Formats: sequence, structure tokens, C-alpha cells
Amino acid sequence: MPRAARPAFRDMKGLILSGGRGTRLRPLTYTSAKQLVPVANKPVLFYGIETLAAAGIRDIGIVVGDTRTEIEAAVGDGSAWDVRVTYLPQDAPRGLAHAVLIAEPFLGREPFVMYLGDNLLAHGIVPLVEEFAATRPAAQILLTPVAQPELYGVAETEGERVVRLVEKPASPKSNLALVGVYMFGPEVFDSVKRIRPSARNELEITDAIQDLIDRGLEVRRHVVDGWWKDTGHLEDMLEANRLILDSLPRRIEGEVDDASRLEGKVAVEPGAVVTRSVVRGPVIIGHGARISDAYVGPFTAIMRDVEISGSEVEHSIVMEGSRITGLAGRVTDSLIGRNVTIARQPGKPRALRFMLGDRSEVSLP
Ligand code: DAU
Repeated sequence: MPRAARPAFRDMKGLILSGGRGTRLRPLTYTSAKQLVPVANKPVLFYGIETLAAAGIRDIGIVVGDTRTEIEAAVGDGSAWDVRVTYLPQDAPRGLAHAVLIAEPFLGREPFVMYLGDNLLAHGIVPLVEEFAATRPAAQILLTPVAQPELYGVAETEGERVVRLVEKPASPKSNLALVGVYMFGPEVFDSVKRIRPSARNELEITDAIQDLIDRGLEVRRHVVDGWWKDTGHLEDMLEANRLILDSLPRRIEGEVDDASRLEGKVAVEPGAVVTRSVVRGPVIIGHGARISDAYVGPFTAIMRDVEISGSEVEHSIVMEGSRITGLAGRVTDSLIGRNVTIARQPGKPRALRFMLGDRSEVSLP
């Protein structure tokens, strides 16, 4: 999107939050940042950068914590997206409002878009940023109805007005969750300094927005159309994978033998090899992956250098370098980390053998 065409938010900056602990995706997040877990073979964080870049934002600060090195290695200086990235270290995950607080010197007095690094939005934010730039309230928030509002920040509204925001309330007063994309003017800096840590000992952005409301400043709301996912939860991660895969075109660039059948939206990347297998899309098979005598079912993302042989996998994400071989049952609804081996071992005693990291989860029929 040409930046010059959108002078109203020429100077708007982006702030992506990519610190935090990722406790809900353990054990994967013991060794890797949750924002780098892949959806349709691409780290979640990259979708956020693309969303901001598509809205014409060129200057992006990324808040980083313990996983800084890994995030920096993946994102670099931002030139891959034609944006400039500045890393903003946060000493500990002290809350979303704390992240805003430490980003103040980077953000300055210009309005900005804050994007939670584990969030995914179907339709991007271009019209929302335009509306914000044109009306310039103190904050613009996005809301969406959810089944379990108690897991999110929840908004109570009266008509167009937001009257109250509560972070993860035990008894939610509405089903409208706060989506992890916010637009703020510099008024928010006073609010993040005025609030106190919550029961979970974090400076909550939800409380900072409530403070804006209490100060009589304008907080606009928007109910998002299209899907939104907070990929911090396993089910949402698999669901996001399903939704993104469904939007990808068919693309066969690897090797597929005559004994194999590829049905529907299947992407086979260069260097991948499929032999004597059935692949039923939507599916993506990454570079260097080897699929043989296998069934890869719908909504599955196979990353680079994965081997699947004599096995069936569907509705799953299999990360790079993992091997699934000779299984009797079908693997489904699974998120499998890097360099994992799941294999049948012939011989006696016929037993299940595991070497699992802390907090691994195995479900057997
Ligand atoms: O996803 C939407 C929800 O995000 C909202 O409905 C909630 O109101 C909001 O508080 C937030 O809730 P979560 O509990 O899901 O936030 P989480 O701790 O997962 O952090 C969101 C992102 O921000 C994640 O990429 C990690 C990063 N983060 C988090 C904290 C607490 C930081 O960079 N620094 C931090 O201090």
C-alpha cells in the first residue's frame, strides 16, 4: 500500500507485543517464543507485521522479553516487509500497559496501533486505522462476541458507548471480548502511569482504557467482522491454522509421484517429496518434507524437513524436523513441536515408550 496515499496516518507508529511467557502453550514455549509458533507454516508474529505494513505503518516497535534473541533472528530489521523495526526490551512480563509505558520514548506524541503478537485477524485493519486517523479519539478498541468471555478483557457497552472494561471477569456482563488490536493517542501514557497492578500483578491495558473513560475521554469501539484468534490457546492455534490454510491457493512445486493423489487446496513447496500418499487439502507441505505411504488429511500444516511415513495425520501442525512413522492410529488435533519423533517400534514387549518433556500431553485411545 503506497504510504503517500494515506497522509492522515503518515506518522502513525506500530507497537507489537512479543514478550510474555506463553504458559498456555507449554511445553513448546519452554524452548521457543509463542509468537513464533507457526500457523500455516508462518510464525504468528509475521501476520501481525504484515497487517501493520498493509495499513501503511512503516515504523514498528516490538516489545521483547526473554525470547528476544529468537524474535530478532526471525524478524531482523523488518526490511523483509519494507518496515523499520526497533526492539524494545521489557525486563519482565509486567503487563500490556507496562509495555506501553516502556515504549513511550519510541512512540513519542504520535497516535499508534498496538498489536498483540499472538493475535490474528481475518480482514486486517486498514479501514479501522483510517477511521481512527479521521476521528482521533483517545482510543479505539475492537470487540468481538466470544463463547468464553471470562478468558479475555470484556466490554460493557451502552449503544455506541463503552461504559466499562474488565479484565478476565469471573462473571462477565457481556460476551464482547477485547481483541488484541488497539489504537491510541498519546493520552494513554497518563493512564498507564495512573493505574495500579491487577490481581495477577500486571499493569492491564484494560484498566488503562477504563481510566481514559473515567477521565471523560473518547473511547470508540468497533465490532470486528470476520474471524479473530488469540493463538495463545491450543484450540485457537489449530483453528487459526484451519482458517488460514483454507485461504491458500493450490500450488504444487515439489515432487509428487504418480501413485499419490492430491485433493483440493494443497501446497507442496519446492524440495518436498510426496510418494504413494493421499493428501486431502487444505494442507501445506514445507520444503524438504518427505511424505510416503501416508494420509495427510485436511487442515494440516507440515513444516520443513518433516518425515511422515506409513501414518495418518489430520487437523494438526507438525513443526520442522519431526518424524511420524508407522503409527497404527490417526494423529488428529495435534500441535507437534520441532524434531519430535513418534514411531512404532516392532518387537516385544509390545509397550508404549515415551521420552516427553515437562508438561507434554499425550492422549491415547
Ligand atoms: O488476545 C486478547 C486478549 O489479550 C485481551 O482480550 C485481554 O484483555 C488482554 O489482556 C490480553 O490477554 P492475554 O492474557 O491473552 O494476554 P497475554 O498475556 O497472552 O499477552 C498478549 C501478548 O502480549 C503476547 O504476545 C505476549 C505479550 N506480552 C504480554 C505481557 C503480559 C508482552 O509483550 N509483555 C507483557 O508484559
